[in-house]
Amino acid sequence: MRDYKLDVANAIAQKVEELELEGILESIEVPPNKEMGDYAFPCFKLAKIFRKAPNMIAQEISEKVENGEYLERAEPAGGYVNFFVNKSSMAKSVVDEVISKGADYGKSDFGKGKKVIVEFSSPNIAKPFHIGHIRSTVIGNSIHKIYDAMGYDTVTVNHLGDYGTQFGKLIVAIKKWGDEKVIQENPIKELLKIYIKFHDEAEKEPALEDEARMWFKKLEDGDEEAQRLWKWIRDVSLIEFGRVYDMLGIKFDSYAGESFYSDKMDKIVGIMEDKSILKKSEGADIVDLEEHSMPPALIRKSDGSTLYITRDIAAAVYRKEHYDFFKNIYVVASQQNLHFKQWFKVLELMGFDWANECEHVPFGLVSLEEGTLATRKGRVVFLEDVLKKAVEKTTDIIKEKNPNLENIDQVARQVGIGAVIFQELYNNRIKDYTFSFDRTLSFEGETGPYVQYTHARACSVLRKAGEYDKDSIDYSVLTAADEFDLVKELEKMPKAVADACAKNEPHVVSRYVMDVAKAFNKFYHNNQIIIDDETLKNARLALVDATRQTIKNSLTLLGVESPERM
Ligand code: ARG
Repeated sequence: MRDYKLDVANAIAQKVEELELEGILESIEVPPNKEMGDYAFPCFKLAKIFRKAPNMIAQEISEKVENGEYLERAEPAGGYVNFFVNKSSMAKSVVDEVISKGADYGKSDFGKGKKVIVEFSSPNIAKPFHIGHIRSTVIGNSIHKIYDAMGYDTVTVNHLGDYGTQFGKLIVAIKKWGDEKVIQENPIKELLKIYIKFHDEAEKEPALEDEARMWFKKLEDGDEEAQRLWKWIRDVSLIEFGRVYDMLGIKFDSYAGESFYSDKMDKIVGIMEDKSILKKSEGADIVDLEEHSMPPALIRKSDGSTLYITRDIAAAVYRKEHYDFFKNIYVVASQQNLHFKQWFKVLELMGFDWANECEHVPFGLVSLEEGTLATRKGRVVFLEDVLKKAVEKTTDIIKEKNPNLENIDQVARQVGIGAVIFQELYNNRIKDYTFSFDRTLSFEGETGPYVQYTHARACSVLRKAGEYDKDSIDYSVLTAADEFDLVKELEKMPKAVADACAKNEPHVVSRYVMDVAKAFNKFYHNNQIIIDDETLKNARLALVDATRQTIKNSLTLLGVESPERM
């Protein structure tokens, strides 16, 4: 695809000796409204070099630059030179590129040969996989796909919370009150029940806590019964989580959870001892972080058992050795900001110069609207139930709007789940937000179904038109405002993906695809596509095809499917 910004920069650099290409490229802007052209070159900073007023400079530059095949004209406007690209040349360059690249449009090999680990979701076993987990799961999945598209070699890790003193408690609870058959049938709900019972009972009988600690110690020491029960809890939990991952279409390369590091802890503590950063405090081992204005990191309790933070440190060291990552990303709620700051600092103090290759990508809270869900006291909102409800509601909507649609079940799943995912990814990730079914599932407004519907609409036009002649498209006819606006939107996809990657922000892609959908719908409403004029029809069909492809590729990066009919 032609880089028109580079064309503009070259046109200036060729005629204005005093300026370097690099510097020109950096200062070129996209004007806030399209009447002012496609690119603008501000001349304000040049006043000193040329000893002239910026508007004079703009005037002179616009007279000097040559128009040609790619640039239509340059006009002075105040202190700017506004550039207008040649519309048919850009239409050809963009539409050809999208159609020839197909599913690869938007991808690059920028990150080739570099390994990036994306850790996300990471729920705690034996605990509900609830609405709060959706964010890490969905944001992480999209970030992984975006890095993939940028050519990085990605590894996805689900750092399951499958270790820690709570498993001592669960083992005690199972032994005292658990019926394995009942648990097997409804694992998470039953385990949660007896876990709560443990806490109630332990308030009356504190010795239970000691018993739980003992069982966790036994587990760490490899005791057979403790291991068997723990493994069983893990297996039944994973079956439940697996159902949600299947619904979301998510797979992980590794399920190495916290337990995976249980035998890798001594080594970590050893390094801390060698570096003399470990201190005794009331029998426990800590790393003092006062100098760095943080509370101490508790590494090992007085009974020798390790902690969440110890396992995170061990996991990072393992990952560096095992994968030699270029970047190690953690998609984890902002409530854990301090935790990550602390242990990234500990890594640094341990002498690992790659500590800065670890990155915490935080996100804000999700809450539920009053009345719809979750409000009854103590009721947990299972993610699986939310997704099921989204699919059910979508089924109703589709049955009403398009009762003759084949495979309604499949489409309802794609749209219902897609809607939830899209909504998750539509805002800056750090923002808190309130989940609303009605807003999420609307076919209008800025929602997933709206974008999916636009894609289906493009598919429908192409189906109705039958084949079009891809080999002889005359792009010079695609110069009407709606057509050119759409072309310009399509052109931005590679940049949107690169931006999203640089910021770890999937919402750059979701906002982008929304702009494409809006531009397409405007074009669609103002123009007939299947018309007698073969030349124009053919060119418009190519534009529709390129739009279909761009929307599909963008939604794929978000983890959202693109049904062809809905
Ligand atoms: N299991 C933790 C939780 O549910 C999240 C784990 C985040 N990842 C990490 N490496 N600490 O809160």
